[in-house]
Amino acid sequence: MSSVVAFGLQWGDEGKGKVIDLLSRDADVVVRYQGGANAGHTIVVGDEKIVLHLVPSGMLHPRTTCIVGNGVVVDPAVLVAEVEELRRLGHMKDERQLKVSAFAHLIMPYHKRMDMLREAAASGKKIGTTGRGIGPAYEDKASRSGIRVIDLLDKKVFSEKVRENLKVKNFLIKRYYKGEPLKIRDVIKEYTSYRKLLKKYVADTPAVIQESIRKKKKILFEGAQGTYLDIDHGTYPYVTSSNTVAGNAAGGSGVGPSSVGYVLGVSKAYTTRVGEGPFPTELHGPECELIRQRGGEFGATTGRPRRCGWFDAVIAQRAVALNGVHGLAIMKLDVLDAFETIPVCVGYRAGKKVTSQPPLTLKGWASVEPVYEELPGWKRNTNGISRFEELPVNAQKYVRRLEELAGVPVDIISTGPERDHTIVLRNPFDLKG
Ligand code: IMP
Repeated sequence: MSSVVAFGLQWGDEGKGKVIDLLSRDADVVVRYQGGANAGHTIVVGDEKIVLHLVPSGMLHPRTTCIVGNGVVVDPAVLVAEVEELRRLGHMKDERQLKVSAFAHLIMPYHKRMDMLREAAASGKKIGTTGRGIGPAYEDKASRSGIRVIDLLDKKVFSEKVRENLKVKNFLIKRYYKGEPLKIRDVIKEYTSYRKLLKKYVADTPAVIQESIRKKKKILFEGAQGTYLDIDHGTYPYVTSSNTVAGNAAGGSGVGPSSVGYVLGVSKAYTTRVGEGPFPTELHGPECELIRQRGGEFGATTGRPRRCGWFDAVIAQRAVALNGVHGLAIMKLDVLDAFETIPVCVGYRAGKKVTSQPPLTLKGWASVEPVYEELPGWKRNTNGISRFEELPVNAQKYVRRLEELAGVPVDIISTGPERDHTIVLRNPFDLKG
């Protein structure tokens, strides 16, 4: 395949960073198409651990062009810090490696402030956002008052837009949320420093991607968050503010849907979630703690402990359909080494009925009970295994059962954080098409 989209099948944090880093070896271009610095991809290379929130993980491969697409909301403070960190660690030697869409919207200081104030005021109805200003930035984009990356390059246009926005935002911040208003001078001063640093990366990214497609280059589209955090298809309102589904790889990058070849759904061998919202297979007590400790399940962006639970085939099946998945990457299989038996949710009990469809309402989500199938554990160390045949038989059977339940082949299995702690059954870029 000459193009692949890798995205999350669950509630985010599936391990996309590692998969994307792995596939980036074969990719000429890597494109982020939605979300912002709410994402956090952790990549381990030897003794180095790098967490990237905005810059595509492909940046660690020197010949890969990395694109922050038009569907992303860009916090320039984060972008500048990541570029500096990458350069300090000896990556990104060539400035041309990074391109930022002129049409991507900027996260402004008032977005972050509004995000925090709104969450603080919500008390019992918190979404549990990352506080990175994502929702307020997408709101401005939709209401056509947003400020785009290209606007930052024109001093006059930028100051006018900041001034107009601040009138409304400061009114809300001060009067409604009783918060501290922002000073226009400070905002403009801060963003002027970013202008100088970011100017060289700003590009007409759809044109860059389309030119690469014409030249038969390999393109990897990198999703952030996960299917059930999608603004339409997720557990609304406990979702993020963008379309996280694979279909948005096209709109968020500026290519047609026919340019997206292979769809790789990334899922953990179990399930996690951060923030509030439905999670039918969530565990409480020692089993949750064991998964959390073994899997290092703490948010890469906020450090919050992640909620942990068993694999849920109901959400997996729906996600496979919603995203048009061709194959799966099953991550962190080794985390389950410690369990005698491993339950997998194969249906939801709703009253007397068992259904294989996710509920439509929050009430529905709250009332379903998972129906479990118990699979035998393997109680052997699988950490670092890179050949399927070397997995204990029960671990092989576990993977095959997930495959059967999801209805699509498992192509990649991860058995540890390192690049080579991976079983690649089929490399999507090697497939015909
Ligand atoms: P926001 O995207 O910061 O507005 O947060 C909305 C919801 O999405 C919250 O429940 C966050 O915890 C969750 N979320 C946002 N980004 C990620 C991510 O990259 N991984 C996991 N959860 C995320």
